[in-house]
Amino acid sequence: MDYSVKYAVLDTLSSDCLVLGVYHKRKLTPMAEQVDGMMDGLLGRLLKRDDMEGKAGDVLLVSYTGLEPVARILLVGLGKKDDLDARAYRKALLAAAKVLKTSGAREVHSLLLDGVVADRDAAWKLRQQIEVMEGVLYRYTATKGKGSEEEKHTALKSLCVLAEYEDQVESLQVPLRQAEAMASGMRLTRDLANLPGNHCTPSILAEHAEKLAKQHKKLKADILDEKDMSALGMGSLLSVSRGSREPAKLIVLEYDGGGKEAPIVLIGKGLTFDAGGISLKPAAAMDEMKYDMSGGAAVLGVMQAVAEMRLQLNLVGIVAASENLPDGQANKPGDVVTSMAGITIEILNTDAEGRLLLCDALTYAKRFEPRAVIDIATLTGACVVSLGRKASGMMGNNDRLCEQLQAAGEEALDRVWRMPIWDEYQDQLKSNFADVANIGGPEAGSITAACFLSRFAKDYPWAHLDIAGTAWNTGADKGATARPVPLLMQYLLTEAEARQPS
Ligand code: BES
Ligand code: MN
Ligand code: ZN
Repeated sequence: MDYSVKYAVLDTLSSDCLVLGVYHKRKLTPMAEQVDGMMDGLLGRLLKRDDMEGKAGDVLLVSYTGLEPVARILLVGLGKKDDLDARAYRKALLAAAKVLKTSGAREVHSLLLDGVVADRDAAWKLRQQIEVMEGVLYRYTATKGKGSEEEKHTALKSLCVLAEYEDQVESLQVPLRQAEAMASGMRLTRDLANLPGNHCTPSILAEHAEKLAKQHKKLKADILDEKDMSALGMGSLLSVSRGSREPAKLIVLEYDGGGKEAPIVLIGKGLTFDAGGISLKPAAAMDEMKYDMSGGAAVLGVMQAVAEMRLQLNLVGIVAASENLPDGQANKPGDVVTSMAGITIEILNTDAEGRLLLCDALTYAKRFEPRAVIDIATLTGACVVSLGRKASGMMGNNDRLCEQLQAAGEEALDRVWRMPIWDEYQDQLKSNFADVANIGGPEAGSITAACFLSRFAKDYPWAHLDIAGTAWNTGADKGATARPVPLLMQYLLTEAEARQPS
C-alpha cells in the first residue's frame, strides 16, 4: 500500500473512493458536507433512505455518485460528535477499512481527518488510519503453497489522507513516515509470530536479527550461542534448551541513536515452540504455542521501526530464544539449576520455562547500565484469565516507568493494566531445595511469575508486560496481532521527543 497526505480542492479531485465521516444523527463532517454540496444533497437523502444514522462503525457504500471523477463514496459513522473519542474513531476506521478492502476501489481518499476526536491531534488520526488499514490488509503468505490458486486479495493500491488545510500537509510528513515505519515493524512482528515452529527456530530468529542489522547502519547484532551463554553461567536459560535439538540463541541488537546516554533495554521471550517439556501441555490448541516467541517478535519489530524512524535514543533489544520440548535431557520436575545471577532455581514445573529464559536475560541486561528495562513475554495462561485479550498485564518495580507505559498504551489504544507484585506474594515461591521455585501455586499465577522475574531485576527500573492474551487472536481470526508494538513505539517516541533539545 502506498500512503500519502495531500491537500486538494475537493471539486477537482478524482478518486476511486472518497471516505467521508458522518456524525450521529446523519450529520456530515465539514469536508463531507462540501462533497454533499457538489452532489446537490444526494448523500443526505441516501443516509435517510438507507437508514444510516451515523453510529460509530456504521458504513454505507455508495457505488454511483453522479460525479464524473468520483467512482464511489464510503460513508462512515463516527457516532455522536460529543462522544467521538479515540476508541470510537478507531472502531469507525476498522469498519471502513474492511469495506474498502473488498470494494474494488484501487485509489482511495480519506476525508476522515476532520472528525474531531477528543484529546487527539491530526497526527494521531493519520497514524491510526494507516495502522488500522495495515491490520485489515495484512496477509500471511510465508508457508502457503506457491501453486495454490488464491482468490484476489484486494484491489487497494493507495490511501491518500486529505489534509483539512494546505499548511497541514507539511506538518504531517513526519507522522506519515513514522506510521509507515511502524507499519513495517508490525508486519515483521506478525510475520515472525505467525511462522510455525519448524519455520522459526531460534537460529532462524537470529538470522532475521542479523539481516536487520545489515539493513540499518545504526543497528548492530550480536548473537550469543550456547557456548557463549554457558561461559556467562546462564544455567537457567540453557536448562530449557537442553531438552531440544535446536540450540538456544541470545539475540542482542543494539541501536545507537542517542550518543552517550544510557539505553532502554527491551527483552523478548523468544520461545519458538512451547510443548511444556516433561510437564507436557495437553494437545488441544498446542499449535498456538508457536506464538510463544511473540515477545521476541515484538522486540525485533520495534528495533526495525526505531531504526527506520531514526529515533534519537539508545535502545538494546534482547531476544531469549529457545524451544521447550520433552526429551531425555530435558529439565525434570524437581531439578535445580543455577542462574547467571547465582540464584538457584527449583524447577517444579517445566512448563514455566519463560521465566527461566528471562531471568538470565534480565541479569545479562545489567551490562548495558540501562535507564529502563522492559520485558515482553507470553508468560502465563493466568493473564488471559485475568484480563482476557483486551489488556496486557503489567508489573514492575518502578511507578514512573509503569505510568509511562500505561499512558503510552492509552495513547496508542494498546492498553496495559497493572497488577501488584507485593512482597506478600513472594512467599509463594519458597523452595525447600533452592533459593526460589519456578512456580508459585495456582493462585495469582501472573503475579507470582512477575515476582520471580523481579528477583533478577533489582538493579534498574523494570517493567514486565505479560502479552499472553494480547499477542494473538484465536478462532476464525487466528493470527498474530503485533501487540504490544504500538504501545512500545508510543513509549519510545515520547522518550525520544522528551530528549530532543528544543
Ligand atoms: N507460554 C505459556 C503461557 C501461555 C499459556 C501463553 C497460554 C498463552 C496462552 C507459558 O510458558 C506457560 O506454559 N505457563 C504456564 C505456567 C504454569 C506452569 C505455572 C501456564 O500458564 O500454564
Ligand atoms: Mn510453558
Ligand atoms: Zn511458554
